[in-house]
Amino acid sequence: MSRSYYIQTLGCQMNYSDSERIDTVLQHLGLTKTDEMNNADLILFNTCSIRQKGEDRVLGQMRKITQMRRVRPNLLVAITGCMVRKTATKLFSEPDSLLRKVDELDMTFRIEDLPQVPSMLSELWPDYSFPEIIEANLKNYFNINPLYTSRFQAFVPIGTGCDNFCTYCIVPYSRKREKSREMDKIFEECRRLVDNGCVEITLLGQNVNSYGLSNLDNKTDEFKGMRQPFIKLLEHVDSLKKYGLQRLRFTSNHPKDLSDELIDAMARLDTLMPYLHLPIQSGNDEILKRMNRNYTVDSYRELIKKLRKTIPGISISTDIIVGFCGETEEQFMDTYRLFEEIKWDMAYHAQYSTRKGTFADQNLEDDIPKEVKKDRWHRLNELLKSTSHEKNREFEGREVEVLVEKFTKGRCEGRSEHSKIVVFNSNEDLTGQLVNLQVKKGREWLLEGCLT
Ligand code: SAH
Ligand code: SF4
Ligand code: F3S
Repeated sequence: MSRSYYIQTLGCQMNYSDSERIDTVLQHLGLTKTDEMNNADLILFNTCSIRQKGEDRVLGQMRKITQMRRVRPNLLVAITGCMVRKTATKLFSEPDSLLRKVDELDMTFRIEDLPQVPSMLSELWPDYSFPEIIEANLKNYFNINPLYTSRFQAFVPIGTGCDNFCTYCIVPYSRKREKSREMDKIFEECRRLVDNGCVEITLLGQNVNSYGLSNLDNKTDEFKGMRQPFIKLLEHVDSLKKYGLQRLRFTSNHPKDLSDELIDAMARLDTLMPYLHLPIQSGNDEILKRMNRNYTVDSYRELIKKLRKTIPGISISTDIIVGFCGETEEQFMDTYRLFEEIKWDMAYHAQYSTRKGTFADQNLEDDIPKEVKKDRWHRLNELLKSTSHEKNREFEGREVEVLVEKFTKGRCEGRSEHSKIVVFNSNEDLTGQLVNLQVKKGREWLLEGCLT
């Protein structure tokens, strides 16, 4: 009888995209996917380490698993994603520290070792007959064809890792050094997607602006002589409009690497949408320095000015950390006031969570009390509610084009060009279609529209 697997994905879009590649490998092995953890023979967590909360969530579920094991002795539990430092099974002599710490775990694998998963599984399930799978075909995990969750919208990774070492951040440790994927491979994946009816592509990376420019990239011939490889890639993918690509997006962006040429390209290329995610992290220069962000509040302001001038009406979102080591009330208020000034369309703010092994963990004191972090978070959130409401109201009466992502109980939901969530009533399920709507109401977190 075929065995089943359940996968829980946490964290950023990179992880969701990786899970689509995991699906391919597991289904090649003859496993069927289930949405019920209780029924699965293999339970897999694709984890995030960005804050302690995400790690605790995974570990918290282990107790439930101990009970499940009593009734299902064949059950396997695996972890991948950013919590894993080493690929191993509990049969290895030197397992990952997670395997030693968490009894319930059978296997851990780093996502780039996804090609090794078939042989690890066959070791742990000696009684299960696996179909023949040639590991050489899986050599580079990026080149495994994902089983895309959606047929009309896709996330395509253009690289992995990060070289920036922001002092609070675990990503350079969990995803290792920045390495870009070959341009023709990315293009091939996008071409295949578009040929199969995909209309919206989001290019993914920790810092897409430095695509092709990292230290590891410089050691290959792939990007030799290219001045701005990312713009070249965008131009290349944009050319797929003749085959049906309608929308191109990319994330995430680092302010220090966002060039004038890239802003111009955003305005020039037809498929690029008028939306940008540009994390600021703090509105105070001293904190930015302590975070090793390599830009100042003024230089960020300049970027916003350029973006708004070159792409009128562009919507911009950001990330902010409150309560970073030593952040005074006045420094927090600099962030607050900058928020009032810039009025981001959306912001993802988080309370600082110290991460083991980072510069901040080893050299700075996590001295802002929990309640203070919480209070700053709430104050920012109140402000965000009012600015995002104000921004959304500006759309009232305007026409927007929406790519419908879901339909429930007579209501369709999707995103506009500006990446605003738009809901509207419909008798028909229009999922996957691009529709024109008139915005009736701008709410705090979304727009309400009606078909024109
Ligand atoms: N590479 C992306 C972001 C990756 S992590 C970028 O630089 O934009 C996403 C967000 O998580 C970050 O922008 C930051 O705001 C937040 N974050 C990262 N480390 C954190 C930590 N230790 N505590 C709280 N928030 C953190
Ligand atoms: Fe983390 Fe900074 Fe890299 Fe983003 S740019 S992943 S915040 S180290
Ligand atoms: Fe989390 Fe890893 Fe993404 S730490 S935010 S899943 S890169």
